[in-house]
Amino acid sequence: MTKVRHIGILTGGGDCPGLNAVIRAITKSAIIKYGIEVIGFMDGFRGLVENNYMALDLRQVSGISHTGGTILGTSNRDNPFAFITVTQEGLLKTDESDRAISNLKHLGLDGLIVIGGDGTLNIANQFYEKGISVVGVPKTIDNDLSGTDVTFGFNTAVNTASEALDRLHTTAESHHRVMILEVMGRYAGWIALHAGISGSADVILIPEIPFSIEAIRRKIAQRYRQGKKFSIIVVAEGAFPIGGEMVIQNYVPTSHDPIRLGGIGEKVAEDLGKVLRDVEIRVTVLGHLQRGGSPIPFDRILGTRYGVAAVEAFVRGEYGTMVSLQGNEIKSVPLVEAIKEIRKVDPNGDLVQAARSIGISFGDP
Ligand code: F6P
Repeated sequence: MTKVRHIGILTGGGDCPGLNAVIRAITKSAIIKYGIEVIGFMDGFRGLVENNYMALDLRQVSGISHTGGTILGTSNRDNPFAFITVTQEGLLKTDESDRAISNLKHLGLDGLIVIGGDGTLNIANQFYEKGISVVGVPKTIDNDLSGTDVTFGFNTAVNTASEALDRLHTTAESHHRVMILEVMGRYAGWIALHAGISGSADVILIPEIPFSIEAIRRKIAQRYRQGKKFSIIVVAEGAFPIGGEMVIQNYVPTSHDPIRLGGIGEKVAEDLGKVLRDVEIRVTVLGHLQRGGSPIPFDRILGTRYGVAAVEAFVRGEYGTMVSLQGNEIKSVPLVEAIKEIRKVDPNGDLVQAARSIGISFGDP
């Protein structure tokens, strides 16, 4: 048996398919296997600071594994170490971490399981450094966390983007157009790369390989000569031209990472339009459709494995760690390992090479 009696959980950062599967797995395995009570803080770290929570029992987490979003709510703005309050004088930033810790203590919690991406797990690690028992679970559609092969939610986002490419193909072919699909992923090109290969894109543009419009034009012209009078381009929101910059859509000053990318699809269309005068170009921005909706079975299963493993790691006292998938095995890695840097696509890796081998262009000269 275990000395652990009560744990708190929270979901932080952008929502992501599979969050509810993780919440369910943590709650069920904690209660069924160890008799541990679980409470969930609402809206990420905000709930911890404001002592806003709900008790989680078997009934509450029943039937949620296939649902999108998070029953606990989430936030990608609230950092207890730099907590922002809107006042009449403007934004006031204070350190509310001690208030959060005192809430944890008053509730008699043994510690926290934090489900999040790099921003959320960074905060989790700061709590660990202040003496709180913390275990992390890697979440993000971007797949950009170090220390794990895959984050849950990524494969559902790829599925959505790949399906969108299938649909764009038919219009592209019927109208002899160039169709551009802009996908999410922040500073990494994982979604674009995987969806692009699976959805038979002709050009994939990712932040890890700066592109040139001339190289894209050449690829489209080459296809035209081969009788293929349409082309599909998938562009990651963080992609940028050689010597150019990422396109920023807006700033969210209250957010841990205030930059919101978006708009590179339109930029590529505009620049390509100048050198491909007779070709019609259309842009689709997939946006938050990639984050919403039901997780595919892979993410329900991975979310379940991560949730169960997080409880096991907590019971074993492996604090300051994150559960991770390595090959087909679930292991634990130090949180600092996971948050030290964003995991990017290797431009020389086998997936990029495989794509090149079947004629996909990355827009590089
Ligand atoms: O990190 C997940 C993600 O969806 C990114 O791919 C995207 O850049 C960002 O979040 C969008 O954030 P928001 O929901 O705040 O617009």
